[in-house]
Amino acid sequence: MKIILLGAPGVGKGTQAAFLSKKAGLPQISTGDIFRYNLKNETPLGKLAKGYMDKGLLVPDEVTINIVQDRLMQEDCKYGFILDGFPRTLSQSESLDKVLNEMGSALDCAINFDVADQVIMNRLAGRRVCPNCGKTFHIVYEPPREQGICDTCRIPLTQREDDREETVIKRLHSYHEQTEPLIEHYQRRNLLVNVDAAKPIDAVSAEIEMIIDKIRLSNKEKYSIHKPFDLTAG
Ligand code: AP5
Repeated sequence: MKIILLGAPGVGKGTQAAFLSKKAGLPQISTGDIFRYNLKNETPLGKLAKGYMDKGLLVPDEVTINIVQDRLMQEDCKYGFILDGFPRTLSQSESLDKVLNEMGSALDCAINFDVADQVIMNRLAGRRVCPNCGKTFHIVYEPPREQGICDTCRIPLTQREDDREETVIKRLHSYHEQTEPLIEHYQRRNLLVNVDAAKPIDAVSAEIEMIIDKIRLSNKEKYSIHKPFDLTAG
């Protein structure tokens, strides 16, 4: 199954992409994670991306599109993927269609996470990330077992540089200006499904499970109905 997750910064795309990836056995492709990996390893791409990320701006389309195109050509994407944070512009969306067309495939759905900006500010202020495994926590809504420590790696959690309030405001501005038009774009194509992402994490996961199951059942010939949540066909 080929799914994209749309929504403003901090709505919970990464949290739900990780859940869905584990549940459905599909690769999670997060452009933000790809940029942060390159930043950590001080690659030329990381240095370039940092200039934009620090200012709350989108990395230029030509850079981002090439990265995603290469990633989608890899073997593990053959049967499906979860795109987390891509596309974010109409041009990125067109490039995605082009790649899928070349693969003889098409998107199954675009899940849009709906949350008010004020809730987002609160979520990002409390987000903590493991600098080793990248797992995301929240000091209130998804706390680690031991305060400030990653459950798995047992090292101190950190805050993302771009989660500073002034940068979050700029990221929200970029979202409303450049990414929000994609909602209508996918609605027109009958691919959009809205999720009330203001609900608690587990409730959002349950809603997404129901959406995916509905798509799976309406495509019986494509996805096995005997293996619940086997989305790797097609
Ligand atoms: P990216 O990393 O993609 O950031 P983003 O889209 O701004 O999204 P976030 O990772 O901030 O939030 P999320 O929606 O994944 O929320 P999360 O699950 O962590 O991109 C970073 C930068 O890279 C961009 O600004 C841009 O510069 C560049 N970039 C990336 N992709 C690009 C592209 N396609 N084109 C150009 N540039 C690109 O949740 C947030 C917090 O809330 C967590 O603490 C979590 O525990 C908590 N939480 C989650 N769900 C809930 C819930 N239901 N209730 C309560 N708390 C919740």
